Amino acid sequence: MANTATIEINGQKQEFPLIEGTEKEVAIDIKALRAATGGFITLDPGYKNTGSCESGITFLDGEKGILRYRGYTIEELAEKADFLEVAFLLIFGELPTKEQLDKFHEDIKKNSIVDEDVKKILDAFPKAAHPMGVLSSLTSALTAFNPSSVDVDSEEDMYNSVVRILGKFPVLVAWAMRKKSGMPLDYGDKNLGYVENILKMMFKKPNEEYVQNKILVDALDKLLILHADHEQNCSTSTVRIVGSSHAGLFASISAGISALWGPLHGGANQAVLEMLEAIKEDGGDTKKYMAKAKDKADPFRLMGFGHRVYKNFDPRAKIIKVAADEVLGDLGIEDPILNIAKGLEQEALNDDYFVKRKLYPNVDFYSGIIYRAMEIPTDMFTVMFALGRLPGWIAQWREMRLRKEPIGRPRQLYTGATKRAFVSINKR
Ligand code: ACO
Repeated sequence: MANTATIEINGQKQEFPLIEGTEKEVAIDIKALRAATGGFITLDPGYKNTGSCESGITFLDGEKGILRYRGYTIEELAEKADFLEVAFLLIFGELPTKEQLDKFHEDIKKNSIVDEDVKKILDAFPKAAHPMGVLSSLTSALTAFNPSSVDVDSEEDMYNSVVRILGKFPVLVAWAMRKKSGMPLDYGDKNLGYVENILKMMFKKPNEEYVQNKILVDALDKLLILHADHEQNCSTSTVRIVGSSHAGLFASISAGISALWGPLHGGANQAVLEMLEAIKEDGGDTKKYMAKAKDKADPFRLMGFGHRVYKNFDPRAKIIKVAADEVLGDLGIEDPILNIAKGLEQEALNDDYFVKRKLYPNVDFYSGIIYRAMEIPTDMFTVMFALGRLPGWIAQWREMRLRKEPIGRPRQLYTGATKRAFVSINKR
């Protein structure tokens, strides 16, 4: 294979190096494009063809349906590892030894106290506030309560900021949910595993003992692993670009939460359930909604179907579909919403429109179903996604800072008015 690409503009040829990744993907290195061509830029809205960085964290091949964290397949990690092990792997690059994992968990627990004054900020939010907005604000507020900046040249400083956010974030998640339901705020239980503690912090009632359900703990652990990283998606790119200005970790994560909130990204799991509920209210006619999804004059899209990069079955969706069936079976749940979901899934998998466009159910289609079975309120679904994605955001932020990447600053092609004279207000 040639090791350069040639671009010819107005008869002038310029060569640009090709860079090969460890999985044989090839990129044209256009860092010198403007200088070499006298100001030409590339235009790629939505960045479908643009690599923003080199990264050693997550590999995915959307055509083949492959997802690996630091070289380990998502299938193996979901089956054999737990969420905290995966978090360590993503952030620090290697699977932890038992001692490293124990220390990591201990350090996270030591950092799981949130300043009591944060409760005053939480109190000021209306009960109806969406928990993603609350979580993004409280995460940003943590910056003010932990103002010391991170010295990225100090491994210790980096480590401390990582365990600090991994300790405090689940507390904020639980508080955002408890505030909405009027439940007292809680700090959880240091004797529990990371995921067990999250469930207890979310669901413990003040007047009864909380009993752990192993099925739910395992299902949530798996869900969090499946969501833990997904290379340069919208929220992760946001975290990296905000961090590239040397904004701190909490501020960068807070921006990532806002990016994740949108219905085309993390908000899709909430949108899936809302769609299923709307179909039920409308009589449960899945065929009618399939027709709407295919009608180009109708803005309706089947939420939970399709993916920007997976043009094959999302490997996470395969794992989670099995988990969803297990959870529903084990809990003995019969829910008309879930029957509608299964109906839509079957129809879409056998429908020409969806098959031709490779629109398969994505991870959010099934995660919403499991969260509903766990009695997690619908508007908390995207918050649960953020909880899972946290290690990925941290890993990407850390990698970006350690590689000393330049500030993110894209170019644009200006298409507005050319120079014109100002018209005073009484003459307009
Ligand atoms: N329902 C109906 N038609 C769809 C759907 C859908 N869910 N998704 C895509 N299409 C159609 C488009 O209309 C288009 O048709 P055309 O070729 O006839 O014009 C074709 O499939 C390609 O669609 P694009 O929007 O170009 O695909 P893109 O890769 O840009 O978008 C996206 C991917 C945004 C995820 C899209 O499939 C979608 O909106 N899905 C529903 C929302 C959703 O589930 N989002 C979650 C993503 S997963 C995550 O964030 C973890």
